Amino acid sequence: MELFYHYGLIFLFLFAAINSLVLIYIPAPYGRHARPGWGPSFPNGKWAWVIIEAPVPLVFLYFFLHGRNATEPTAWILCALFEAHYLYRAFLFPLRMRGAKPKPLITMFLAILFNIVNGVLNGWSVGTQAGHLNNTWLCDPRFLGGVLLFGIGYTINHHSDAILRNLRAPHETGYKIPHGGLFRWITCPNYFGEILEWLGFALAAWTWPALAFAAFTASNLIPRAITHHRWYHEKFSDYPKDRKAILPGIL
Ligand SMILES: NC(=O)c1ccc[n+]([C@@H]2O[C@H](COP(=O)([O-])OP(=O)(O)OC[C@H]3O[C@@H](n4cnc5c(N)ncnc54)[C@H](OP(=O)(O)O)[C@@H]3O)[C@@H](O)[C@H]2O)c1
Repeated sequence: MELFYHYGLIFLFLFAAINSLVLIYIPAPYGRHARPGWGPSFPNGKWAWVIIEAPVPLVFLYFFLHGRNATEPTAWILCALFEAHYLYRAFLFPLRMRGAKPKPLITMFLAILFNIVNGVLNGWSVGTQAGHLNNTWLCDPRFLGGVLLFGIGYTINHHSDAILRNLRAPHETGYKIPHGGLFRWITCPNYFGEILEWLGFALAAWTWPALAFAAFTASNLIPRAITHHRWYHEKFSDYPKDRKAILPGIL
């Protein structure tokens, strides 16, 4: 497992770095940026999300429960945060989606590959490798601040996902300008919330795999938020001029 951990970690950081460079020039071809030329697609967008995300909570839980930290309350709290996010993302989010579009198989394959390595490494590091997840860590400012940041990000992410979902009637597929919540200041508060969540998790867990996942999330969602922002300005002449892409007042 140690060997898999070391190579897996290199894979996660490399994936994050390459991904961010590629996404600056080539938007990931799903949702509004879907376009021909990416090979066959999985026809049902909702089930594509379930297939991509469902392995993560399962592999995390397996490696966590088989680890020596599974008796530590601190490790259980981290496990609960991770599972709370993924039960939502893998099941509730896709099953409530409106007008879900097909997903290219190539993007599904890459996402599943990343997700499995990420789930194994985070489950194993929280479950076994992280020796500091004891009762002293429970009162450490990094743990407390990280859990708080995760909670803030989780709330922003859910609230923003719900605003987007409610823009459409059940079988509609078109786009409207979102308003309310953090959409007042930024185009992609759902991505902003997700980045805060994983930064918070990385702070609270204080492990390399958690940091790698936070880096990957930012490398994935910041370029996509900039692409979404540009797309809104091209599509809607009345798009709010003072709204930023992802960081209120900055970017
Ligand atoms: N951790 C990570 O690296 C990572 C990676 C990807 C996604 N995520 C998370 O997964 C969630 C979904 O990501 P996403 O990239 O699909 O987000 P998105 O592009 O904002 O879309 C979310 C959903 O809302 C719909 N939608 C978005 N804007 C709309 C508008 N103006 N009018 C009507 N409907 C609209 C989309 O429809 P269409 O699909 O038809 O556009 C989709 O069903 C987010 O919360 C994100 O944070 C995380």
